[in-house]
Amino acid sequence: MRSLIVSLALAGAVVACGDDHIHARDGHDHSHTKREFPTAKLTPPTRPLQWGTLNIIHTTDSHGWLLGHQKTSFPEPNYSGDLGDFASFVTHMKEIAKAKDVDLLLVDSGDLHDGTGLSDGFPPGGIDAQASNEFYKQLPYDVMAIGNHELYIYNNTLDMYRNFAPHFKGRYLSSNVNITIDGVSRPVGGRFAKFTTRKGRKITALGVLFNFKGNAANTTVQPVADMVKEAWFSNAIAEEPDVFLLAGHMPIAKDNWPLVFDAIRAVHPTTPILILGGHTHIRDCLQLDGRSMSLESGRYMETVGWMSADLPAPKGHQHGHSTKNITFSRRYLDPNRVTYEYHTGRGNFSFDTAWGRSITKGLEKLAKTFDLSFQYGTAPHDFTINQAPYPSNNSVLSLVSEVMPYSLTVNNTRAGNPNIMITNSGSLRFDLYAGPFTKNDQLTVSPFADSFLYLTVPFGAAKKVLPTLNHAGADERRSLETELWARGYVETRYREWIEEMYRRDIAQNGAGLRAAGNLTVGYVTSDACPGVGDDTPHVPLAFNPIPDFISSAPPDVSDDTIVDLVFVDFIQTQLLSIVNSVQSAKVFTTADVLPYTNVLATEILGIYAQHAWN
Ligand SMILES: *[C@@H]1O[C@H](CO)[C@@H](O)[C@H](O)[C@H]1NC(C)=O
Ligand SMILES: *[C@@H]1O[C@H](CO)[C@@H](O)[C@H](O)[C@H]1NC(C)=O
Ligand SMILES: *[C@@H]1O[C@H](CO)[C@@H](O)[C@H](O)[C@H]1NC(C)=O
Ligand SMILES: *[C@@H]1O[C@H](CO)[C@@H](O)[C@H](O)[C@H]1NC(C)=O
Ligand SMILES: *[C@@H]1O[C@H](CO)[C@@H](O)[C@H](O)[C@H]1NC(C)=O
Ligand SMILES: *[C@@H]1O[C@H](CO)[C@@H](O)[C@H](O)[C@H]1NC(C)=O
Ligand SMILES: *[C@@H]1O[C@H](CO)[C@@H](O)[C@H](O)[C@H]1NC(C)=O
Ligand SMILES: *[C@@H]1O[C@H](CO)[C@@H](O)[C@H](O)[C@H]1NC(C)=O
Ligand SMILES: *[C@@H]1O[C@H](CO)[C@@H](O)[C@H](O)[C@H]1NC(C)=O
Ligand SMILES: [Zn+2]
Ligand SMILES: [Zn+2]
Repeated sequence: MRSLIVSLALAGAVVACGDDHIHARDGHDHSHTKREFPTAKLTPPTRPLQWGTLNIIHTTDSHGWLLGHQKTSFPEPNYSGDLGDFASFVTHMKEIAKAKDVDLLLVDSGDLHDGTGLSDGFPPGGIDAQASNEFYKQLPYDVMAIGNHELYIYNNTLDMYRNFAPHFKGRYLSSNVNITIDGVSRPVGGRFAKFTTRKGRKITALGVLFNFKGNAANTTVQPVADMVKEAWFSNAIAEEPDVFLLAGHMPIAKDNWPLVFDAIRAVHPTTPILILGGHTHIRDCLQLDGRSMSLESGRYMETVGWMSADLPAPKGHQHGHSTKNITFSRRYLDPNRVTYEYHTGRGNFSFDTAWGRSITKGLEKLAKTFDLSFQYGTAPHDFTINQAPYPSNNSVLSLVSEVMPYSLTVNNTRAGNPNIMITNSGSLRFDLYAGPFTKNDQLTVSPFADSFLYLTVPFGAAKKVLPTLNHAGADERRSLETELWARGYVETRYREWIEEMYRRDIAQNGAGLRAAGNLTVGYVTSDACPGVGDDTPHVPLAFNPIPDFISSAPPDVSDDTIVDLVFVDFIQTQLLSIVNSVQSAKVFTTADVLPYTNVLATEILGIYAQHAWN
């Protein structure tokens, strides 16, 4: 995971916004306590799903969020469905598909690792997501694709190769991803799969990863452009199926899907192509032509995607060969019991299946084994990344500015020296909500195990470092952004998306207008496919720009006072070059850099919470 941490939060390049957008969230109630069966009134979806002859339930980028979102602050209850609820949903949906005599497939587009205590809270010597993936294995996935988070640590990839992929009998796909074991390179899962659906449709499936470059040694990601030139690829697509199902951990827009699409279209000009993408954590849909649809279904089990297509009868049953546009639909479901019950025509007491309940119970047991509800303290209110302005009392970045000077100096002999402490905002991956702050929360909010280093420099130079870091030139920024993209850093795209929905809402409705109605906060998707995509209408969350880097409050000392300039380890190179540009008295090198404390970035919030929130 270390390399993905080179996540200089480039998201901040946006204009400040002075609107005081009042949101429904301000009036939310904290009354419901039991996550499993929400007692908060959840608005049901607006309309039934549109079924076709072939239908797909799609998940992607679940990152260990298998117990759903458990906080009482909205929008979290909207995403409170756990994997057990999802399993019951899938069971009922399969029954409905059978009754309608249509096909229903279940597809996942990768990134099962890294993100919650269920995946990352394992005891020393364990393997990330090994235990949580056992639950994923219980779902009847028809096709799964590998994600970049399966590749940061060799042992994780090895675990997928040895213990996960075999369970899916050739349907766990890694078309362009290999692992080297004992010097021999081989695909982690299958390169492609051919199978026939219940209704007799022939499917050819692929599982493609974007051109990821942050992968561990002894794993290989072949560029997509090279993959489509491989002989195995030509052979796999040569025979015409009824449908191509292209799963993959690659964003559906602004990435390399057209290379795969065009390679297939060159051979099969009209065969239906269904693309299920992922990686940028957004809801998105587009059509590359009238006989294809591409869908991306968000992140962290905050979205379950739905795609339906009215396909011709399978070959052999079909009269003539149609080239007309296919009727598609897509929907982004908020994963919660209300949504699931609505679409399956079930009530609270007829929804659960024994199998679903056993998954929920198993996950709860795992959470207990990993001691994920170990409580450091009680957060007095929500601290958010973008919903609250920075700086402000409700900003998690402001919180971290305050946390560092406490948590990094506990039991530290340097505590008495004046200091400035710098970290990057990209190291924060999720909002910190009011209520118990647990081991699980620490792992969701600040998952990167970075250490802290320091240099001693005159305050006059130290105080210039943060502004310089935050104002890297446009060229530097662009090249950095390209670099970070290749390493798998996606927050920039995700934040652009939530900012865009917020600005669109203000332009259309004026600040605060819609919040006065009965809509609740959540995602408000505008994509390139016809009709409304969101299953439940929402008002967007407030969006405030944030800087790439933040620091603790500077000490009140003279410019020539020597201070400890403390910084998170992975920015060392940049930081040294900046220190050498803002002063000329001394040329600083790596030899001047020393460890500041043993406390890691993953621990600072817990240490602070034990002290301040008890
Ligand atoms: C989503 O959250 C809101 C509160 O913001 C709640 O009132 C609404 O009913 C939820 N909708 C669903 C479908 O869960
Ligand atoms: C990887 O797993 C092997 C055994 O499966 C273990 O010996 C090794 O220490 C692990 N490596 C890391 C870096 O965790
Ligand atoms: C890659 O695997 C080979 C053995 O197959 C091993 O000798 C080598 O050290 C590994 N490289 C790394 C960086 O782990
Ligand atoms: C992946 O493994 C296959 C099978 O061993 C091999 O033929 C192929 O060259 C490998 N691909 C890459 C990109 O290393
Ligand atoms: C078919 O779909 C394509 C792509 O979505 C669109 O450009 C075209 O207008 C459609 N044709 C008809 C006849 O609807
Ligand atoms: C739903 O069912 C559960 C389990 O039987 C029960 O605890 C809960 O109160 C029910 N919720 C509602 C809204 O009926
Ligand atoms: C922020 O918190 C401080 C300290 O708790 C408090 O004095 C101040 O009033 C708060 N500011 C706002 C705007 O709530
Ligand atoms: C600081 O030292 C005390 C006493 O040894 C110990 O109890 C405490 O856990 C230490 N705190 C941290 C954050 O290391
Ligand atoms: C929200 O308000 C509109 C108009 O006042 C009403 O038609 C709709 O039923 C309400 N929706 C919910 C979920 O209460
Ligand atoms: Zn992801
Ligand atoms: Zn990813």
